[in-house]
Amino acid sequence: MNSTTTNSLAVSISAVQSAKQFLQISVSTWVVIALIGQWFFGTYVFVIYVFPIVTGDLELVNLSQPIIGYVKGDHFGNAALFSHVIPAALLSVGGIIQLVPIVRRKFAAVHRWNGRMFLTLGLMGAISGLYLTWIRGARLSDVGALGITLNGILIVVAVGFAWRYARARQFDLHMRWAIHAFILVNGVWFFRLYLMAWYMANQGPNGNTANIDGPTDIFLSFACYGIPMLIAESYFWAKRQKQAARIWMVVLLMTIGMLITLVGVLAAILVMWIPRIALAL
Ligand code: HEM
Repeated sequence: MNSTTTNSLAVSISAVQSAKQFLQISVSTWVVIALIGQWFFGTYVFVIYVFPIVTGDLELVNLSQPIIGYVKGDHFGNAALFSHVIPAALLSVGGIIQLVPIVRRKFAAVHRWNGRMFLTLGLMGAISGLYLTWIRGARLSDVGALGITLNGILIVVAVGFAWRYARARQFDLHMRWAIHAFILVNGVWFFRLYLMAWYMANQGPNGNTANIDGPTDIFLSFACYGIPMLIAESYFWAKRQKQAARIWMVVLLMTIGMLITLVGVLAAILVMWIPRIALAL
């Protein structure tokens, strides 16, 4: 190999390395933004759904503008609602910690137990959510409920595979399925962010209806987990690439995704969660 070839090989290796560094930076930045958004959502769920149980003022739950919400005397339906929403506070606080590399490396036991909690509660959330939607009737329209129904079914699949590969110690596959399980279990959260980001971009609704079955609502009800899952797959693909240009394309995609998350988190905190928390307190 002559010196020109050696030099151009070295340049291309360092171009790939720096693109991969930016790929990692875009993931880490997204995790920080998501952590703020998730913990805020967890606080909102705690104040709106756990607080009323402690104070006994259960009607407060309906401040969240639920579809059916708390109904006096409907013991079974109310139990289903609370067992669906209260674990969401734990899922929001605990789930994002699984994505922090230092926790996985240095505190393996925390990762294992927190992971078991996340997968178990996520699975229960999917089953109770399907019950609330299709048996209790907590849906604004049939077509508007299809996206979240597929979300619930996919949670069962992703949780099953994430668990199976962890037990088989096939950690690459475990990570891939666990990331998809994380995205799917947080479909409810992503939906709110995307909807809020959409409202911000359009200065109000556009293609949305009060029954959440307008064309944009239906698109978002599938896209809220479909888009993050596609971005996650692009990330796994980029990690295997040896050409800097391909990795940069994914960095760009992830940066756009990160900016949408940032706008959605800020809008959801300011327009949705803080006003409802203020009403409840
Ligand atoms: C494990 C994933 C899930 C989590 C963490 C979760 C979390 C939540 C939370 C926090 C709320 C209250 C929202 C608010 O106050 O803004 C909620 C409501 C609701 N969820 Fe889920 N959810 C999940 C999956 C599902 C699935 C898969 C379905 C349906 C197939 C579903 C159906 C519902 C329904 C119908 C309500 C409204 C109940 C009412 O207003 O009466 N959820 N969910």
